[in-house]
Amino acid sequence: MTLLRVENLTVRYGAIVALKDVNFEVREGEIVTFVGSNGAGKTTTMRSLSGLVKPAGGSITFKGQSLGTLASHRIVQLGLAQSPEGRLVFPDLSVKENLMLGAFSRRASHQQLANELESVFQLFPRLKERLAQDAHTLSGGEQQMLAIGRALMAKPSLLLLDEPSLGIAPLLVQQIFQKILELNRKDGMTVLLAEQNARMALRIAHRAYVLEVGEVVQQGNAAELLNDEKLQKAYLGG
Ligand SMILES: Nc1ncnc2c1ncn2[C@@H]1O[C@H](COP(=O)(O)OP(=O)(O)OP(=O)(O)O)[C@@H](O)[C@H]1O
Ligand SMILES: [Mg+2]
Repeated sequence: MTLLRVENLTVRYGAIVALKDVNFEVREGEIVTFVGSNGAGKTTTMRSLSGLVKPAGGSITFKGQSLGTLASHRIVQLGLAQSPEGRLVFPDLSVKENLMLGAFSRRASHQQLANELESVFQLFPRLKERLAQDAHTLSGGEQQMLAIGRALMAKPSLLLLDEPSLGIAPLLVQQIFQKILELNRKDGMTVLLAEQNARMALRIAHRAYVLEVGEVVQQGNAAELLNDEKLQKAYLGG
């Protein structure tokens, strides 16, 4: 089933056209990735989905409902949560406070929240050991775990991850991608992933879209794109 359908999405920042007639879809249970270099429009796409950027044209349909002019917190309530680029945790709040803020738009019982905290800790045990610690004192990788954990606290049906590998050591990047795969395989989480690390992203994704200066120039099965000669030259260092 199609969970998210985006048609002719166009975004302008003043005179700059950041996205031009972008079309894509995400089906339930998929990991879909956007690959593209700096400034291609990956973050703009993510922010449009979350209602943080107002498109100049096109439509975004999530679970059959048009997101149109819905406020961001309503979009989260509908089941679309984002771990933003650059992590953006609340630096002076504790790990626990950051996680609880992820659930702010939900009407959940204490018991439900406790259960969800527990499942975030199962995914990222390190966060449990650091519950009372201020977020700004976490390492970069730990902050990334916290940003993902916070998005999961919204109990989304579609998880948006914007550059989860940014500024993180290779070994930890592997771990985080492994966790994303685990979320998808074990919990059936649908994931839309934006990544400059195209190789890693294509390895875990089912399908991918290639963005170049605001336009989708290629799309398809992730395993096939991984072996695509043109893509290898442009994005995979081959
Ligand atoms: N608030 C803004 N005002 C003006 N221009 C913007 C704004 N945000 C983004 N842009 C421009 O829109 C284009 C797309 O940016 P975007 O952040 O979506 O790219 P990206 O693919 O996420 O890049 P990166 O890989 O570097 O994160 C860029 O040219 C950028 O300069
Ligand atoms: Mg970006």
